[in-house]
Amino acid sequence: MKIIVVHGPNLNLLGTREPDVYGTVTMDEINATLSERAREEKVELVTYQSNIEGSIIDFLHANRDADGLLINPGAYTHTSIAIRDAVTATELPAVEVHLSNIHAREEFRRISYIAPVCIGQVSGFGVQSYLMGLSGLLGFLRNR
Ligand code: DQA
Repeated sequence: MKIIVVHGPNLNLLGTREPDVYGTVTMDEINATLSERAREEKVELVTYQSNIEGSIIDFLHANRDADGLLINPGAYTHTSIAIRDAVTATELPAVEVHLSNIHAREEFRRISYIAPVCIGQVSGFGVQSYLMGLSGLLGFLRNR
């Protein structure tokens, strides 16, 4: 089983970016934690980060042979119909994750263009959001 993990814009700066909101864990540390869990679960994990909308879409197209998608679209969550359409086009079961609770922040963050084409959304648990999202995704894939 192959799972792809996509980190959207500005998530490469995790660790130093607004640590009061996003914590001090870096993206590499998140990827290492996810990879360790993936090893335990005996699934292949491919991680990707880009600050560019089109590059994220190209990555999704190139990896549509995967079994599932874990995605933190960053600010593209709230703006990108193009990424939503790409998720739909790949037909990959997807889980949207956020470090912060997007529903408890500014009004504009409450809207997700991506969540309606996902199995579900995990938001507000920091690094745990990713682990919970992976766990939910694997549970979905193994029980369908
Ligand atoms: C985020 C929430 C988004 O609103 C924001 O633009 C991000 C990070 C999160 O993980 O909490 O870049 O996706």
